[in-house]
Amino acid sequence: MPRTRASASHLFIPRKASRAEQRAARAGFAEARRQARRAGAPPKHRAEERLDPELRPAYPLSGRPGSSSARGGKLSLPAHRMTTATVSGAYPFLAEGGLGAEGIFIGRDVHAEAAFCYDPFSLYSSGRIEGFTNPNAVLAGIIGMGKSALAKSIATRAIAHGYRVYVPCDPKGEWTAMAQALGGCSIALGPGLPGRLNPLDAPARPASVSVGDWSAEVRKRRLLLLAGLARTVLKRDLLPMEHTALDLALDLVVAEADANGTVPLLGQIAHALGSPARLDQALGNHAGHMGPAAQDLAHALRRLVHGDLSGMFDAPSTVAFDPTTPMLSIDLSRLGGSGDDTALVLAMTCASAWMESALADPDGGRRWVIYDEAWRVMRHIGLLERMQSQWKLSRGLGIANLMVIHRLSDLLSAGDAGSRGRVLAEGLLADCSTRIIYRQEPDQLAAAASLLGLTGVETQAVSALTKGRGLWKVAGRSFITQHILHPAERALFDTDARMSAKGAEFTKTEASLLPLRLREVQ
Ligand SMILES: Nc1ncnc2c1ncn2[C@@H]1O[C@H](COP(=O)(O)OP(=O)(O)OP(=O)(O)O)[C@@H](O)[C@H]1O
Ligand SMILES: [Mg+2]
Repeated sequence: MPRTRASASHLFIPRKASRAEQRAARAGFAEARRQARRAGAPPKHRAEERLDPELRPAYPLSGRPGSSSARGGKLSLPAHRMTTATVSGAYPFLAEGGLGAEGIFIGRDVHAEAAFCYDPFSLYSSGRIEGFTNPNAVLAGIIGMGKSALAKSIATRAIAHGYRVYVPCDPKGEWTAMAQALGGCSIALGPGLPGRLNPLDAPARPASVSVGDWSAEVRKRRLLLLAGLARTVLKRDLLPMEHTALDLALDLVVAEADANGTVPLLGQIAHALGSPARLDQALGNHAGHMGPAAQDLAHALRRLVHGDLSGMFDAPSTVAFDPTTPMLSIDLSRLGGSGDDTALVLAMTCASAWMESALADPDGGRRWVIYDEAWRVMRHIGLLERMQSQWKLSRGLGIANLMVIHRLSDLLSAGDAGSRGRVLAEGLLADCSTRIIYRQEPDQLAAAASLLGLTGVETQAVSALTKGRGLWKVAGRSFITQHILHPAERALFDTDARMSAKGAEFTKTEASLLPLRLREVQ
């Protein structure tokens, strides 16, 4: 009887086909499956095939066929590695890392698609950026591109960071609403207005400065102011004897004022200059030389005392400088409407002298001083000298100056190459570690490129900038930044209101709500 098998090995199936036959069968099966799939699908037309032959691209999307396509391993180049710092020499906007998150939010870095923050004080103190030697900035751009809006945003946001803001001359009166909305104040000067500023006011002595040093500093500032005023009216440099006459007149008037416990006034200086006997006596030389020397000066200062600016700068100040106020602006919009800038320049000189002397306290905290419409002062050497001394003092006093101009060539209008005005204006630019360039007219691009050392790519970018967008050059680093305005800021800063129907809708009631809205923003 046959034995039943209790166990079995794995079933062995012998190969019926060779490996090559199996491979061929697999390929045949895959091909049959592909054909079946294609047969089921509706016929597809490539996008280009549907186009007009004229509009079809010359080469397929995959690129140019053939050996000249540099594909297929026929062209092999050695790998070239370099740092982004080196690549940025060829293309300056390559993945800029930004200035960090510290400081005031300005807007969007267009190339890095990141927030752009800026604070000259922290950039200076941290030493993070090589070549950032001072906190001053220049902002240049054609009319209506948003220069004032950027300056105002910087001011508004800086106040939220605890800084104070001063606008020594506001020829358009644009800053008044803003100063009031931010809890500061504005002094309006003009014929018939009650505001008075005495540019010869002596500021309070900072605790860190000795009495002797301080009185020498105040005397120097007053002399600089008087010489600046005389030069503006006379439209020429002063002669050595005229400087002596100013010295003598100032010392006489200050001694008298100290004896009477009053403040020296411009009218008294003009009067002293018109009294040759007093000047000769003060000089100790009775030859009568000072009379003719002081004659022109006496007439020049008369304009401020009896001329179109009478009263504004020849009386004790009606406002005391309050160092705790967050913002102070001097509204000069009622002056200079006649096309003659001299009145405006004299007023700017007096107003900026008054404010700058009040800012001379190095313990006054970090401050921004904004010169909006500064292009108007570029032709006046007296004002340029004042600005230059402020620029030089900026680090010592903790002040960042911002100068707003239209074109870089405004700086060249200060005088011929090599002249004093030109040297001063170029010095101001050199002392600005931050340069913000908004759109420039095509004919201005060459001047901008040579003054700022722009690369070809930067120059091209500047010609195509839109509103609120600027090239920021921060000590050699470049950013294209879109300034972003908050809706409350936009309502407050709107300078186009009169160009649109909106102007009529913007009422005083809305203006009074703005501080509340701004507080909500912070
Ligand atoms: N980033 C921005 N986004 C939207 N609107 C803006 C921006 N910047 C400015 N504006 C608007 O553009 C208008 C003109 O701006 P602004 O007065 O600042 O120009 P400007 O360059 O100072 O002109 P001007 O040279 O005449 O003084 C304003 O009404 C302002 O609200
Ligand atoms: Mg403006």
